[in-house]
Amino acid sequence: MEATKQDKTKTGSGSHDALAFLEAEHRSVEKLFEAFGKVGDDDLDARSALVQRACEELSIHAILEEELLYPAAQEALADSDKIDVDEAYIEHFLVKTLIAKFETLKPCDKGFDATFKVMSEMVGHHVEEEEEELFPELRKSKCNLRALGEKLAKRKAELQSKLDAVGSGSVGDKTEML
Ligand SMILES: [Fe+2]
Ligand SMILES: [Fe+2]
Repeated sequence: MEATKQDKTKTGSGSHDALAFLEAEHRSVEKLFEAFGKVGDDDLDARSALVQRACEELSIHAILEEELLYPAAQEALADSDKIDVDEAYIEHFLVKTLIAKFETLKPCDKGFDATFKVMSEMVGHHVEEEEEELFPELRKSKCNLRALGEKLAKRKAELQSKLDAVGSGSVGDKTEML
């Protein structure tokens, strides 16, 4: 299963294909979740850095999908009875609520690990639905995935430079400041 997902990313229709682009982002955040599981309980700096990075990547990813992918999907799949994009927005909202909890949680606090674990499970569920339901339907649709991929790459560069400018010293939901 994992191999198939990775192969799809590498052999998709190129780096500008919107879905290959988003799948690569999914793999990247999964690596952070996996790395967190391997870090020692007493390595608080490493735990904090991994959570911060995951929150940043997820915040940018959520903005990209909500601004560009989901509206395109709602248009391309307007007649689909299989896909409900509204559900995806709600799942993003829930993940962002957990990201916001890290504004105040410190790695030594009770609940830090549990919050990250629940977040990784919610993200895992959401990513699976995107890759197994939404993305295949989009591939079959008339949606111009190449043009969408170019917009995603351009917007990501803008968001990343804004994030770099505001600094990434604090964890938490970055969607408000971007
Ligand atoms: Fe999503
Ligand atoms: Fe996604």
